[in-house]
Amino acid sequence: MANVVVVGAQWGDEGKGKIVDWLSERADVIARFQGGHNAGHTLVIDGKVYKLNALPSGVVRGGKLSVIGNGVVLDPWHLVKEIAQITEQGVSITPETLMIAENTPLILPIHGELDRAREEAASKGTKIGTTGRGIGPAYEDKVGRRAVRVADLADEETLIARVDRALQHHDPLRRGLGIEAVDREALIAQLMEIAPQILPYAAPVWKVLNEQRRAGKRILFEGAQGALLDIDFGTYPFVTSSNVIAGQAATGVGIGPGSIDYVLGIVKAYTTRVGEGPFPTELQDADGQRLGERGHEFGTVTGRQRRCGWFDACLVRQTCVTSGVNGISFTKLDVLDGFETLKICVAYDLDGKRLDYLPIAAEEQARCTPVYEELPGWSESTEGARSWADLPANAIKYVRRVEELIDCPVALLSTSPEREDTILVTDPFAD
Ligand code: IMP
Repeated sequence: MANVVVVGAQWGDEGKGKIVDWLSERADVIARFQGGHNAGHTLVIDGKVYKLNALPSGVVRGGKLSVIGNGVVLDPWHLVKEIAQITEQGVSITPETLMIAENTPLILPIHGELDRAREEAASKGTKIGTTGRGIGPAYEDKVGRRAVRVADLADEETLIARVDRALQHHDPLRRGLGIEAVDREALIAQLMEIAPQILPYAAPVWKVLNEQRRAGKRILFEGAQGALLDIDFGTYPFVTSSNVIAGQAATGVGIGPGSIDYVLGIVKAYTTRVGEGPFPTELQDADGQRLGERGHEFGTVTGRQRRCGWFDACLVRQTCVTSGVNGISFTKLDVLDGFETLKICVAYDLDGKRLDYLPIAAEEQARCTPVYEELPGWSESTEGARSWADLPANAIKYVRRVEELIDCPVALLSTSPEREDTILVTDPFAD
């Protein structure tokens, strides 16, 4: 398989960073195709921890091309800071190793301000619990045809025209929310100042990737967030503002859908969610607390405690369909070590009716109660297992039952944050 897409199959934080890093060794190009610096990817390489938000995980591996596609929204100030940080850790980032699509919309400081002001003004039940990084407002400006894009940084006159167009929309909006008008001159000056630090990386990514593809190079598409945060197929309105599902990989960089050969869904052995919104299998008891503590479930971007619950096979079966997942990478199985009994949600009960999928209406989602199947746990440790033989029988039974319920095979099993602690069943890049 030449090109592989990696997507989160739950609400994000499934452990994509490690798997992307693991796969990036076999890839030539690593491309981000949606989201922004709301993502948090933690990579552990030889005990050294790298924290990435906007940069593709491939940057930490030498000799690879990392790409930020047009489907991403980019905060240029954050990017420059992230590049500086990662450079300090000994990683070299140059225009030869990092390319940013010229048609990538920028996240401006006004987007973050608007994001946070709206969240603060929201009443209980309407708050989304965003990362506050301006992702939603930046995507709004993109589809509203008033975004400032990377290419606009190259010409002062164009840049000023773009800023003015955006401010025509933002100033009245800010007035309504009680935020002071934008300092137009300061914003233009800030953009002109950052431009020379971004422009060297700007490139026609669609063209470069097409050339790479034709030359037989392997492209790894790195998803951020998770399919249940997808703007169309997620738990709307408690979602992020981009398409997260695998189909977005094509539009998010400018290649045809036929160039995607394999979709790898990353699936955590239980369920977590940050932010507001429905979560049928959420546990607010000692078991939930134990999952959170054992799994170190704190958001990498905001530090918020993640909500935890049992594995929801209904949801993952659904996201495997909407993303066309060929195989999953099952992560954090070791967090379940020591539970006497494990529960898996196999269906929902909605007002006495059994459903095998999560309905789309938010009100119905909130009323769905999980129907559980119980499986025996295991007392042995699975942490660091590198072969099936290292796993207790009940852990294997759990994995096999998950495969059956979600109707998708396990391609990789990850048993610790270290990249070597991975059991390979099917290599997504194998021809
Ligand atoms: P936004 O993307 O900042 O607008 O946040 C919208 C929703 O997506 C909130 O519930 C966030 O907690 C969630 N979210 C955004 N990025 C991530 C991520 O990388 N992991 C998990 N949740 C995320």
